[in-house]
Amino acid sequence: MRNFNENTITDAVLERIAGATDPRIKEVSEALVRHLHAFVREVRPTQKEWEFGIDFLTRTGHMCDDNRQEFILLSDTLGVSMLVDAINHPVPEGATETTVLGPFFVQASPEKENGADISGPMEGDPMLVTGSVSTVDGRPLAGAVVDVWHSDDDGYYDVQQLDKIGDLAMRARFHTDQNGRFNFWSIKPAAYPIPHDGPVGDMLEVQGRHPWRPAHVHFMISAPGFEQLVTHVFVAGDKYLDSDVVFGVKDSLIREFVRHPAGRAPDGRMVESEYFHLNYDFGLKQVASNAKAA
Ligand SMILES: [Fe+2]
Repeated sequence: MRNFNENTITDAVLERIAGATDPRIKEVSEALVRHLHAFVREVRPTQKEWEFGIDFLTRTGHMCDDNRQEFILLSDTLGVSMLVDAINHPVPEGATETTVLGPFFVQASPEKENGADISGPMEGDPMLVTGSVSTVDGRPLAGAVVDVWHSDDDGYYDVQQLDKIGDLAMRARFHTDQNGRFNFWSIKPAAYPIPHDGPVGDMLEVQGRHPWRPAHVHFMISAPGFEQLVTHVFVAGDKYLDSDVVFGVKDSLIREFVRHPAGRAPDGRMVESEYFHLNYDFGLKQVASNAKAA
């Protein structure tokens, strides 16, 4: 087969991949070709525009390293991450809603005891975070793994300033106690622009968009037999709640970070300055096979 033109090239490519033995690979490859060709037919790029597209993707790849994931940013800012999340995480009554993982999760987060202060060398308004993890019908889950991470009060994560602070901070891994509860201290996070000094930032600018995310604390919660929960809790009143650059905000994930005067905090600690208190009670969904057995 040869002499392909605008009308015949799509079928020719589809025919070429018809022999893929893995049915899922075949399905995904065929859909990719159909949609990609439809996109090109609609946009009708000039040769120069095609080159620009290749260069944009190349720059996106080159921007990635151990601490910077430009492709996740691209997926997030195009709404693809939230679409994948919505498809994969229908939420039953009692289960906490999910949202994007974001680019700042670190696999090797330090293990900490409940009550620890994870702010490290960072300065800011003290923040007490308390919470619980339970099943959708309210049974506490002891020993659940609670990963948390958040930005500082200028909106930067530890991994964006390792040169300055030397070590991870404002992130840790806790385990819930026998009542399914956890608590820790840190500093109150601020709204922040996603890193916009790369190709994704260029894209946002020409699309007439701002790069900001409303202030939030990330949570990833796991327990055997339950679906891993990846979510954030957003600070109520933040001005970017309705224009989050990655489309991650859900009403059920917004909480008041309650301001308290200096004094004894709910965990018994004496705090010398005013502080903020966030409490959130998380509900985990059982994995499907378990749900049937239960
Ligand atoms: Fe974040």
